[in-house]
Amino acid sequence: MQQDPPLDRAREQVEHALVTESGRPVVKTFFDEATFTASHVAHDPATGAAAIIDSVMDFDQAAGRTSWKNADRILDYVRSEGLQVQWLLETHAHADHLSAAPYLQQQLGGKIAIGEQIRAVQQRFATIFNEHEAFSPDGSQFDRLFADGDSFAVGTIEATVLHVPGHTPADVAYVIGDAAFVGDTMFMPDYGSARCDFPGGCARQLYGSIRRLTKLPDATRVFLCHDYKAPKRDSFAWETTIGEERANNMHVRDGVDEESFVQLRTTRDATLTVPKLLLPAIQVNMRAGRLPPAEENGASYLKIPLNMF
Ligand SMILES: [Fe+2]
Repeated sequence: MQQDPPLDRAREQVEHALVTESGRPVVKTFFDEATFTASHVAHDPATGAAAIIDSVMDFDQAAGRTSWKNADRILDYVRSEGLQVQWLLETHAHADHLSAAPYLQQQLGGKIAIGEQIRAVQQRFATIFNEHEAFSPDGSQFDRLFADGDSFAVGTIEATVLHVPGHTPADVAYVIGDAAFVGDTMFMPDYGSARCDFPGGCARQLYGSIRRLTKLPDATRVFLCHDYKAPKRDSFAWETTIGEERANNMHVRDGVDEESFVQLRTTRDATLTVPKLLLPAIQVNMRAGRLPPAEENGASYLKIPLNMF
């Protein structure tokens, strides 16, 4: 069997959290129905230390107006629970919503972090958006870039980072205690998996990443970045387990081989339209959630590259 020390560490960490009952974060989720995004606040009940995962800035594209209804819900929760935010984690550079991490950081503190492959994503989009002077595609916009297998802590709870490319080249999953925040890899079992047709995406890589995640213990809690309500389901859902995914995921349950998955994923991706907020989201999220620098008149602008997508 192939050696995978980062995964072994994550597995041991989950097993330890499950057996001892300590090291299990409390997770509260905030769902944004405008972008179908689940933002999570994971905290250590022993210390009140917290991580916010994949926050959302509200954006009215027609008006070009940003606002903070979603972020303020998180802010109110963090303050009312008396939590101390240590981390603002991004699972990847999202294409369907803008991050609120800098706004939350300003109010609550904490470090903004993402996977180190974000540099490759920044380079690709710096070319597409013809950004060279005011933008360095070196990851310096983030406070911390995580490599595969890096560990960190949320209070007394151990956490491990797993690089899980496929949806984008930079996706990471954060395994915090017994809870895996898997970003855009798997979705709920009745919905399947994330698309792989963005620049740098790869269905074959996503298959490998999901197979890696499903080697975590079956009891691992799994928190998703999105839900779109599967047919026959009338409420949004964002929490499942590795065991559930292995048994029932409609795209990638145990027994589905790589070729079948790649075929299914590629065929489905060919039918999907470009996400509504792709162009604004990428320009903001490649800057860790900050708007492009203001021009001489004090206003910020977003670009629309023509005929590139
Ligand atoms: Fe995404």
